[in-house]
Amino acid sequence: MPIRSFSAGGGSAFGGSEGGSWGLIMENMKEEQEKMKITTIDKVNNILALYPEADEERLAKIRSDVEKDIKKAEKGDRIVYGIENDGKIVGTMQLVFRDDKEFYADGKTRAHLHHARVLEDLRGQGIGTKLMEEAENEAKRRGFTEMTLGVDEDNRQAVKLYERLGYKEFMREKGEQGEPIVGMKKDL
Ligand SMILES: CC(C)(COP(=O)(O)OP(=O)(O)OC[C@H]1O[C@@H](n2cnc3c(N)ncnc32)[C@H](O)[C@@H]1OP(=O)(O)O)[C@@H](O)C(=O)NCCC(=O)NCCS
Repeated sequence: MPIRSFSAGGGSAFGGSEGGSWGLIMENMKEEQEKMKITTIDKVNNILALYPEADEERLAKIRSDVEKDIKKAEKGDRIVYGIENDGKIVGTMQLVFRDDKEFYADGKTRAHLHHARVLEDLRGQGIGTKLMEEAENEAKRRGFTEMTLGVDEDNRQAVKLYERLGYKEFMREKGEQGEPIVGMKKDL
């Protein structure tokens, strides 16, 4: 069920069209982005399709996690967003309102971003940023005043993106495999 279309302007893929071939590239990119729609996902296969490189074991783990996430979304505890291009899901992100880890999402003032993923070929074009902006705006509409997220310490590109969007480290924790996770947050 599409929620809204992309609006052009802002974000790394939308700036400047100064003419010449660069201008043409930017215009084409803008047209591509305008075809994309933010939607919600209720089928786990739409998310598994974002992991073409994953082996069966990894896919089984993602399937099991996402099935639980979709059940929580059905209860209203989160939104599982997708971004659709010509009917195909090319990215996802979850907006969590309530979580067992209250330092991430407490159902009142603190919401949490989870499971951000964009198809590899389409990364670096502003899709992740757009999903985050949509989620932040929805959280604000619902009265949340803080957004948190957790990112693997060594995922430098993602950390850089979150810092650009105003997130700052506020805690550390260990992931399921004991990997160091940086907790980041921002005021909405
Ligand atoms: C993190 C992720 C969702 C961001 O989505 P995205 O659509 O690439 O996001 P954006 O295009 O808005 O921003 C990505 C940043 O990386 C830069 N970038 C450039 N080329 C890139 C590429 N090929 N791949 C990824 N990022 C690239 C972008 O320029 C941008 O940085 P900037 O804002 O300083 O210019 C996406 O990279 C992804 O799916 N990564 C793998 C899964 C992952 O690590 N998820 C995060 C878990 S916390």
